[in-house]
Amino acid sequence: MSLYSEKVMDHFRNPRNVGIIEDADGVGEVGNAKCGDIMKMYIKVRDGIIVDVKFETFGCGSAIATSSMATEMIKGKSLDEALTLTNKAVTEALGGLPAYKLHCSVLAEQAVQAAILDYYKRNGVPYDEAKFPCALCAHEHDHTADEDGE
Ligand code: FES
Repeated sequence: MSLYSEKVMDHFRNPRNVGIIEDADGVGEVGNAKCGDIMKMYIKVRDGIIVDVKFETFGCGSAIATSSMATEMIKGKSLDEALTLTNKAVTEALGGLPAYKLHCSVLAEQAVQAAILDYYKRNGVPYDEAKFPCALCAHEHDHTADEDGE
């Protein structure tokens, strides 16, 4: 049996929504200090809805697959809905990831949060910090240990 599901391989080989949005309304960049991988997410927002999203990931195949899936899951969703996206939901939608690759999916969750946080900041929208635990400190420490116990 392959280590990676068909869906993971599909999103890795044919990632959806790759690229940048020049006039994005929010941009989030997060990284994992241990592996050095970086994920950048761009969102376009109209009336509280994410009408477009693109990403650039400089990282492993699982990071590419999870960011691709995350963009599909938040496109057309409200900001509030997108904020509830968890790395677990992304991983499940991909048919699972090996345990030692779960931290890659955390980057996808953080990148979405970071892009939304940037949107709120740019537009002076009041926000609840509790909803952005990872995005607020994304560059300050590595979340690997928090998420998968490694
Ligand atoms: Fe770094 Fe996957 S190994 S995100």
